[in-house]
Amino acid sequence: MLPSIVASLSLSAALVAAAPSPNDVHHLQLARRSIRTRSPLADLEAYTKAKTDLQYKYGWKTHEDDVSRRQSSADVAITNQGGDTSYFAPVSVGTPAQVFDLVLDTGSSDLWFTTTACDSSCPGGTPEFDTTKSTSLKPSTQAISLKYGSGAASGTLAQDTVTMGPFTISNQIFVTVDTISTGLIDGQLAGIMGLGFDSIAATDATPFWQALLNANQFTSPEFSFFITRFGNDAKATDEEPGGVLTLGGTNSTFYQGDIDFNDFPSGSTPSFWLQTVSAVTVNGKSVTVPGGDSALAAIDTGTTLVGAPTAAVNAIWGAVSGSQALSGNQAGFFSFPCSTSLTISLAFGGKSWPISNADLNLGQLGAGQCLGAIFDITEGTSVVPGSGNPSWIVGDTFLKNVYSVYRANPPSVGFAELSNAAGGSSGAF
Ligand SMILES: *[C@@H]1O[C@H](CO)[C@@H](O)[C@H](O)[C@H]1NC(C)=O
Repeated sequence: MLPSIVASLSLSAALVAAAPSPNDVHHLQLARRSIRTRSPLADLEAYTKAKTDLQYKYGWKTHEDDVSRRQSSADVAITNQGGDTSYFAPVSVGTPAQVFDLVLDTGSSDLWFTTTACDSSCPGGTPEFDTTKSTSLKPSTQAISLKYGSGAASGTLAQDTVTMGPFTISNQIFVTVDTISTGLIDGQLAGIMGLGFDSIAATDATPFWQALLNANQFTSPEFSFFITRFGNDAKATDEEPGGVLTLGGTNSTFYQGDIDFNDFPSGSTPSFWLQTVSAVTVNGKSVTVPGGDSALAAIDTGTTLVGAPTAAVNAIWGAVSGSQALSGNQAGFFSFPCSTSLTISLAFGGKSWPISNADLNLGQLGAGQCLGAIFDITEGTSVVPGSGNPSWIVGDTFLKNVYSVYRANPPSVGFAELSNAAGGSSGAF
């Protein structure tokens, strides 16, 4: 979901009955933030890691000492909201624990949720953190505003115990939010759990997953997603089983064959989960897309669709006969004949991964044309890709088709075929 300069491309909800509504189409922030907030709260996780690193460096401690520590991996059940629009999971905060459903977002690095102090901007029914009821809360007066492509949230920094599955960080820094923009979250969602790297955290805090990694709680330095598809199911309700997030490893129940890992582009400080788009095929035919900085892609569970730079989007849809560029509110999007069974594959240096027609076709627009799920992310913006900023945002449209693994060391992203238990990678073509 991404922190943002990209103006929201709005789709007319009436026009796109089966598609995500305008505000649900999340976008990535293409610029790294230049101003970060220096937290008045001690980022204990960061200092603890610095201490341990030094102990290793001078031989006071060896990695064998860690073997006795409890390391594990665990599955967290995900919920699919709004027909593949958002994927969320429960997170506990404070003492005694209060539980909130948060969007799992590999495209940002901050953690936030709404509080009982949230003004009328919080949709009715939004679960709220009652700060007065947590005995372990360390509040602050540091104000902070988080911006995403699909909206903004603001509040103050705080620190408390945060738990997901069996994993706990006792001094996690997050934002207690008291104002949010319309449409940023809805239903029973209370906020966002950023799963990107600390270098792009507006709070300047160590993200929860990275704190667990630093504290040596993970069996492997990675987390993995299997996410479900309900967007093409007319009987689907607003909340359906969403798949599984495995923290600290992978779960072989959900994939088959090898996991094809590709390192981050060289020389970059880990920020987003970056990959390089190396090849694109449309119904088996290779299309030429720009390389270099224009091929940088953020792999983003918090973005519903796939955004790409103009030249790539034109090349892709140019290879689909009968496709049409949309205009007005829908500029940046394309339609294609509903009778076409479309498969578009993306490669990131290794294997090529097909995206099913079930994910590429977002529903009828009229006159036999259907809305396509790959859009021009630069439409209506003056963002210049490059300088390490991603030009592509590869969201759930793609990720529903693979098992995805986010590995911190070496920084890389891996994809594997879904197992039959996870629906199979080719189950919906
Ligand atoms: C993997 O997922 C299956 C199915 O949910 C579960 O039974 C199993 O315990 C999981 N394995 C691990 C190692 O977590």
